[in-house]
Amino acid sequence: MHFFTIPPPAAAAPAFIIFFGFFILHNNSIFCNATSSNFSCIPSERQALLNFKHDLDDPALRLASWVGHDCCNWSGVVCSKLTPHHVHKLLLGDPDLKFYDTKRLSGEINPSLVDLKHLRHLDLSVSLIGGARIPEFLGCLRSLRYLNLSYTIFSGMIPHQLGNLTNLHSLDLHSIYREFNGTYISPYAKNLQWLSQLSSLRYLDMSWADLKKASDWLEVTNSLPSLEVLRLSYCNLNFNFRPIYHVNFSSLSLLDLSGNYLGNNIPLWVSNLRSLTSLYLSGIATGGSIPDGIQNLTFLVHLDLSDNSLNTSMPSWLYSLSHLEVLNLGSNGFTGPIPEDIQNLTFLVHVDLSENSFNTSIPSWLYSLSHLEVLYLMLIN
Ligand SMILES: *[C@@H]1O[C@H](CO)[C@@H](O)[C@H](O)[C@H]1NC(C)=O
Ligand SMILES: *[C@@H]1O[C@H](CO)[C@@H](O)[C@H](O)[C@H]1NC(C)=O
Ligand SMILES: *[C@@H]1O[C@H](CO)[C@@H](O)[C@H](O)[C@H]1NC(C)=O
Ligand SMILES: *[C@@H]1O[C@H](CO)[C@@H](O)[C@H](O)[C@H]1NC(C)=O
Ligand SMILES: *[C@@H]1O[C@H](CO)[C@@H](O)[C@H](O)[C@H]1NC(C)=O
Ligand SMILES: *[C@@H]1O[C@H](CO)[C@@H](O)[C@H](O)[C@H]1NC(C)=O
Ligand SMILES: *[C@@H]1O[C@H](CO)[C@@H](O)[C@H](O)[C@H]1NC(C)=O
Ligand SMILES: *[C@@H]1O[C@H](CO)[C@@H](O)[C@H](O)[C@H]1NC(C)=O
Ligand SMILES: *[C@@H]1O[C@H](CO)[C@@H](O)[C@H](O)[C@H]1NC(C)=O
Ligand SMILES: *[C@@H]1O[C@H](CO)[C@@H](O)[C@H](O)[C@H]1NC(C)=O
Repeated sequence: MHFFTIPPPAAAAPAFIIFFGFFILHNNSIFCNATSSNFSCIPSERQALLNFKHDLDDPALRLASWVGHDCCNWSGVVCSKLTPHHVHKLLLGDPDLKFYDTKRLSGEINPSLVDLKHLRHLDLSVSLIGGARIPEFLGCLRSLRYLNLSYTIFSGMIPHQLGNLTNLHSLDLHSIYREFNGTYISPYAKNLQWLSQLSSLRYLDMSWADLKKASDWLEVTNSLPSLEVLRLSYCNLNFNFRPIYHVNFSSLSLLDLSGNYLGNNIPLWVSNLRSLTSLYLSGIATGGSIPDGIQNLTFLVHLDLSDNSLNTSMPSWLYSLSHLEVLNLGSNGFTGPIPEDIQNLTFLVHVDLSENSFNTSIPSWLYSLSHLEVLYLMLIN
């Protein structure tokens, strides 16, 4: 049975296209026989996956396909296309919450996972996989580019061994703050020195980890040359220092420091971050005004300064942020009028001005912003 015929011409007749599909199918099986293997993954990697599975509870039977020799065909497992077919990705996250509630994977990570020496992508997000702490041995997965343990139930100290994952470009440890035996627990770090070794990092989310003691958080994250996304919301961050170095984050496009109560003003250094397109600083300050330097962040598309008790008038220069689509200034104490020039922000889609103390009525032009979809104006005066 040979279907290795002439390659189809570019403009094939429909009948030929059907034949071509047939051709691909057989080509594949011939290829597999020809190499006289079962297209199976490396036996030691298969064993590592079975050990990993063994320590998990799987109520939704997501790992039901994890039987037989060809582990490259198991669900959630992606192997290299080239031989040898090393396991490259383990995709057991649940971004769509399909297995949420009682159907989540749970258990602990078996150390044999480190036998997946070529693993580049590990996603266990939104599972109940976890333990007393994130295992140190994850630092041995030297090939990892992507590690997503967000919304898992790890607590304890974040291991500095993660600093050995020098190829990482995404590290998502967004945690959940949960009750255990009557107290609230979350992962924590005493310093972030180890992070400074991750020079390829582009995406970092450690939201809800307790970084109260990690007073080097700004110095370290600022030194990551490729960082584009930094999310450290609700981390108990310490702002009680004046940075002696120049905060510049040369490639940062998203900064989220919401929920880190600073009890003071919005830090002035954010206006150095010229490449920002999204800035989330909700619930960090009490009182004061929007720093004038923010008008220099002309690429901003999302700006959230809600819940800061800002009690001056709303600056008229906001119109200079001409790309703004989302403006959230709710739950502050802005006084005076709503500046007219904001009507020039024609890309606005979502505007929240609720719970402020403006002294004018709602201007009619607000309703005529042509892209507007969401407008919150509750308790505006
Ligand atoms: C192919 O798989 C079968 C069982 O599925 C096994 O008995 C056989 O040894 C395998 N052959 C190779 C070359 O791995
Ligand atoms: C494994 O391969 C078989 C046959 O090619 C296919 O029917 C099955 O859907 C595959 N399983 C997974 C999980 O991809
Ligand atoms: C990590 O997983 C969560 C939930 O599945 C997802 O929302 C998030 O975008 C992922 N993080 C990254 C960096 O891809
Ligand atoms: C990183 O790996 C080296 C050896 O490759 C080891 O000596 C060192 O302790 C590791 N560092 C961390 C933080 O795990
Ligand atoms: C739960 O808390 C009680 C009292 O604080 C303590 O005695 C007990 O050891 C704790 N149990 C666990 C499993 O930590
Ligand atoms: C950012 O600031 C550091 C000093 O804090 C400096 O070494 C680095 O060159 C600066 N980067 C850019 C792009 O300005
Ligand atoms: C604004 O808030 C700050 C801090 O709470 C306060 O000291 C100041 O008096 C307030 N200013 C006005 C005009 O209410
Ligand atoms: C905005 O940027 C310009 C040019 O770099 C600078 O001169 C000015 O002081 C900045 N404005 C504020 C309010 O920081
Ligand atoms: C609103 O307050 C501003 C001062 O912030 C004042 O100039 C203006 O007259 C006030 N407008 C009304 C209608 O009270
Ligand atoms: C806003 O746009 C109007 C015309 O649409 C223009 O006359 C006005 O100068 C603009 N305001 C600012 C502050 O650019």
